[in-house]
Amino acid sequence: MKVLLAVGGGIAAYKSAELVRLLMQQGHQVQVVMTRAAEEFVRPLTFAALTGRKVLTNLFAIESAIEHIAVAQEHELLVIAPATADLMAKLAHGLADDFLTTLYLAFTGPVLLAPAMNVNMWQHPATQANLATLVKRGHTIVEPGSGYLACGMSGPGRLADPEIIAAAIERAAHPRRDLEGETVLITAGPTQEPLDPVRYISNRSSGKMGYALADAAAARGARVMLISGPVHLAPPRGVEVVGVRTAAEMRDQVMQHLPGADIVIKAAAVADFHLSKVPDHKVKKTAARISLELDPTPDILAELGRKKGDFLLVGFAAETQNLQQEARRKLESKNCDMVVGNLVGASDLGFESDENEVVLTLRTGETIALPRASKRAIADRIFDEVLNLRLALHAANGR
Ligand code: CTP
Repeated sequence: MKVLLAVGGGIAAYKSAELVRLLMQQGHQVQVVMTRAAEEFVRPLTFAALTGRKVLTNLFAIESAIEHIAVAQEHELLVIAPATADLMAKLAHGLADDFLTTLYLAFTGPVLLAPAMNVNMWQHPATQANLATLVKRGHTIVEPGSGYLACGMSGPGRLADPEIIAAAIERAAHPRRDLEGETVLITAGPTQEPLDPVRYISNRSSGKMGYALADAAAARGARVMLISGPVHLAPPRGVEVVGVRTAAEMRDQVMQHLPGADIVIKAAAVADFHLSKVPDHKVKKTAARISLELDPTPDILAELGRKKGDFLLVGFAAETQNLQQEARRKLESKNCDMVVGNLVGASDLGFESDENEVVLTLRTGETIALPRASKRAIADRIFDEVLNLRLALHAANGR
């Protein structure tokens, strides 16, 4: 594929050199474009040497007035990495005062952005509003990772690893539409069970795995319904999101949206217990010690397992020990077709992480270990195996 890689002016610009190397390895033809600010961080010569092509810079734009249109027409995918806060703002508003921004307006193909900036700049409402505009426009966003940033602060804002960006480019280059015509129902996030009007019981689920599954299914052509507990994530493009708070609300929405679903994935971390009678007013600190009497919440997955019609049912098991035994036990007791198991608590993987490492336990008796990867990549692998499993189950039933 003929890829235009636009490098913005951020400290992460040096990582784009590695991205270029990966793209060349994957067999793409890469043309690098640099903003004036990017040239302050990396010399165009680095990219010229890696690609064997002259880098397009702002100076080039001054020399040849209509070249941005020819360049736009010759290429199939525009990747902007790193996309700085300033670049995102310009693109969102259609400003066109240099080579890259004029090229962007002239380009009609798919656009992929990998933002990188300081955590406060990323979380600023102005940046988030620009991000929403770019998502709405249909662009693919490779979310920044969390971690130590060059500015000394910690949090989301770090350019995604070049391997993750390259994988997203691969998906854009070879879109799979193997879920076209299917309806996928996914639950994600934690639930919150109120104790009084201001307090609740919840858990550490971030919702990232469920949202990655929704994004993957939509990208592969499915109609996706996402029943989500309270999370801080942007709704994936093309996905219908229904927000819920408690396990009881989640159960009602799942049952309401179930008719017509072909695949149901219960990635939510549903609270197991709740207070049946929530006091109308805030509980006061009158006693030295209090005890809570909690009742079980509805087990949504078990109810789905009992109903089981034509849909394929996937549950999750987040365990701190005995992963395989627990996953197999849940598969049997809740009548699932697949259980996605992961170890939580002990490692940096799982709940809040951008990456995951899971074991798939299948109804056929098989187990498949998926090595550590981004949650988005794991989501695609889960759908690969869901489709394989469905074929295997159909073949077995037809026998
Ligand atoms: N689940 C559900 N409804 C509940 C509790 C769990 O639908 N009230 C689903 C989760 O969405 C997940 C699966 O059941 O797909 C496993 O959740 P988990 O909490 O690990 O299982 P439990 O059955 O609650 O088992 P335990 O807490 O004893 O490990």
